[in-house]
Amino acid sequence: MLVEETQAPEGAAEWVACLTYKSVATATPRASDIDLLASKARARNRSLDVTGMLLFEDGCFLQTLEGPPEAVGAVWSSIQRDERHDHIEVLSEHMAAARLFSDWNLLLEGRFADSGDNHAKTAKAPPAVAEHVTRLVELALNADDLALNTMMAGFSEQGWTSDAILTLLIEPAARALGDAWLDDQCSELDLTIGLSMLQMAGHAVRYIPSPQSIRNSCYRVLLATAPGEKHMLGTTLLADQFLAGGWQVDMAFPDSEEALTNQMNAQHPDAVDIGLSDAMPRQHAIDSLRETIEHSRLIVSEHPTVVSVGGRLFAEAAATALSVGADHARKGLAGTSVRLAELVRQSRAG
Ligand SMILES: Cc1cc2nc3c(=O)[nH]c(=O)nc-3n(C[C@H](O)[C@H](O)[C@H](O)COP(=O)(O)O)c2cc1C
Repeated sequence: MLVEETQAPEGAAEWVACLTYKSVATATPRASDIDLLASKARARNRSLDVTGMLLFEDGCFLQTLEGPPEAVGAVWSSIQRDERHDHIEVLSEHMAAARLFSDWNLLLEGRFADSGDNHAKTAKAPPAVAEHVTRLVELALNADDLALNTMMAGFSEQGWTSDAILTLLIEPAARALGDAWLDDQCSELDLTIGLSMLQMAGHAVRYIPSPQSIRNSCYRVLLATAPGEKHMLGTTLLADQFLAGGWQVDMAFPDSEEALTNQMNAQHPDAVDIGLSDAMPRQHAIDSLRETIEHSRLIVSEHPTVVSVGGRLFAEAAATALSVGADHARKGLAGTSVRLAELVRQSRAG
C-alpha cells in the first residue's frame, strides 16, 4: 500500500504518511469498549509518533492516521486484522508536508461537541460530523451563503484544516445532494445551486494552513471537467489546492472531447485531472471517459501526461480508474496535488 511504499518527495524529510479509512463495527460497542480501545490506541500511537482522529457514528468508524510511514504502516496492519470491524475501505492515502492533527494522539468525535476535552466519550457524544453534513446540505439547498461562511469560519477557528473540511464535510455533502436529487427530494436546479454553494464554502476555507499550502512544485496541470459534465465542484476546489502547491494551473470546462484534447495538445500539461460530478454517480460516463483518455494518450509530447480522474464514481469505487485507463483516481480531493506531483516525478524518472 502507498503509505508503506511511497518515499517522501526529495527535500521533504518531515513528510508524513496520511491514511483515512472507514469501516463498519462488527458488533455495537459499549461506551466502555470505545474508551478502552481509544486509551490503548492513544498509548501505542503516542509511542510511535502517530497522530490522527477516530470517529464512531451509526455503527461506522472513520479514522485518520498520520505519522512516519513505517509507524503508520505498523498500526494500519494491526487495525486491518482487528475483528471488531470489517468492510474496511481506504478513503485517501498520501504523503503530506504537515500533519492535520498535530496536537492530539487520537481525537474523538466528542472534541467537536466539547472542544478542549480530548477524552474518549464517543458513544455519548452527539453525532457531530453527520449533523454538520446535514446542516451543510440544508444551508447549501437554501443558498444561505452568510450562514455557510459563518459555519466555515467556525470550523477553522476550532482547528479544522481545509483538507479535513473537504474530506469530512464538503465531499459527503455533495454526495448527499446527489442522493436527494436521485430520491426526488430536490430539483435539478436545487442541486446545481447547492453545488455552487458548496463550491463557495470550499473556496472560503482555502487560506487555512494545510499541507498543500507549502509551495512544492513547478509542474503544470490542466484541471478539466469531463466533456459535457455540468458539475464542477471538485475541479474548481482542486484549483485552489494546486495553486497553493505552486503548480501552474489551467482550467477547462469542455463540452466535447475534441475541445479537451485540443487544449491538451496546445498546453502539454504534466498532469491532467478529469472530473466527473461529485454529487452524481455518472456510471454511464465510463465508456466515453475511457475513449477520451485513450485519445489524449495519442497526443505527442516530450513527456507523457499523467492522467487523473475524480468524482463520485471514483470516490465510491476507485478500481473503476483501471477500466477507464487513468494513472490515478482520487478517492477524495485532499492530497491530490501531492500525489500527482509524485506521479509526475516518477514518470520523469522512469
Ligand atoms: C476502529 C479501530 C481503530 C483502531 N485504531 C487504533 C489506533 O489508532 N492505534 C492502535 O494502536 N490501535 C488501534 N486499534 C486497535 C488495533 O486494531 C489493535 O488491536 C492494537 O493496535 C493491538 O495490535 P496487535 O493486535 O497487532 O497487537 C483500532 C481498532 C479499531 C477496531
